[in-house]
Amino acid sequence: MPPLVTPWEVDRLRLRIAQAASGERFLLQGGDCAERFDECLPHIISNRLKVLLQMSLVLIYGLRRPVVRVGRFAGQYAKPRSEPLEARNGTLLPSFRGDIINRPGFDPEDRIPDPERMIEAYSRSAVTLNHIRALGEGGFADLHHPEYWNLGFVRHDDLRREYQQIVDSILDAIRFMEAVSSGPIGDMERVAFFTSHEALLLPYEEALTRDDPHHPGAYNLSTHFPWIGMRTADPEGAHVEYARGLSNPIGIKVGPELSPSLLRDLVKILDPDRLPGRLTLITRFGVDRIESCLAPLIESMRADGRKVLWNCDPMHGNTETTRSGVKTRRFENILAEMELAFDIHQASQSALGGVHLELTGENVTECTGGARGLQEDDLGKAYTSQVDPRLNGEQALEMAFSIIRKKRRMPS
Ligand code: PEP
Ligand code: CO
Repeated sequence: MPPLVTPWEVDRLRLRIAQAASGERFLLQGGDCAERFDECLPHIISNRLKVLLQMSLVLIYGLRRPVVRVGRFAGQYAKPRSEPLEARNGTLLPSFRGDIINRPGFDPEDRIPDPERMIEAYSRSAVTLNHIRALGEGGFADLHHPEYWNLGFVRHDDLRREYQQIVDSILDAIRFMEAVSSGPIGDMERVAFFTSHEALLLPYEEALTRDDPHHPGAYNLSTHFPWIGMRTADPEGAHVEYARGLSNPIGIKVGPELSPSLLRDLVKILDPDRLPGRLTLITRFGVDRIESCLAPLIESMRADGRKVLWNCDPMHGNTETTRSGVKTRRFENILAEMELAFDIHQASQSALGGVHLELTGENVTECTGGARGLQEDDLGKAYTSQVDPRLNGEQALEMAFSIIRKKRRMPS
């Protein structure tokens, strides 16, 4: 079947990642932990896009840099699991591994892997991407269009006011530019979204890995930006061997267990030619461990003469389970890891060039905290994730504001 993206787009993203690694851009990567087949719905796709767009606007304004927008979507269907089995009331079943592999229901039938689901994942990815591309070309792409700015989901007054001020000053600037150039500035860069997902299920990834007569090398054309998950980042393992042969930019999840020497081995295998934009290190230590883990890795990359893009995932090291057994994350811990990442990079004469978040445009209650102070008791109100807890639209936008506030407080 046809690929979902083109080598030209993939190359363009790699150049932008190279620019982010040089401090000329900032990478915003976000979306669901696990996409779901039954959530391939127009409002879910457009609300998620809207949140990413609004966050990017805040970041562009506050960081004074263009933002590269990358979604965790159109293929984020396979999940690595820490536990191979799930127990409920004394019954043990294989874990749910994402819609591309099995089903989440707690029934032996549901948990049987079904390869036909890869075809369904491909179709849903294609439909999702088609809708995203159409939105990018249509209403969402026009800076004058109200869809772009609509803040329907934010009920918190301070957040709404702060966002409105930014919107007003951007619209002022656009009107000024249009007055000066006596016409609409319609040819501004189209609102571009790139796609990313974890390259976990190799049969699916390989089926969409193609040669192209006009581009040397093999491209994974199921996505622009595949990443290697923390549990499959073994330099000797199949996932690294697969990614090594690709021409795409590659992300690597970097957790507390990855030593500086192992990281050096890994980057040597994955980027022997030191191609600008090739590697993004997505660090996910948790607020308690980032201070001991991050600086030695930055130092090891520097000693190796490596220029990579450093991206902070403040979600996956901060997952906890409440007393009543609900998986959650605290907004304050997510933010604290993010802020520490900025500080540690600066103290190490390095720079944080991106953020990686699990988020949705829906008004879910999966992470506690944030401006509206979601409590543990609120988690049951709208918890729909089958895997990891996501920031809701309001918390995600608040995270973008927190990032620019943090940058403002930092000595330049
Ligand atoms: C994820 O990004 O959903 C994930 C499982 O991350 P990690 O590999 O970092 O645990
Ligand atoms: Co996750």
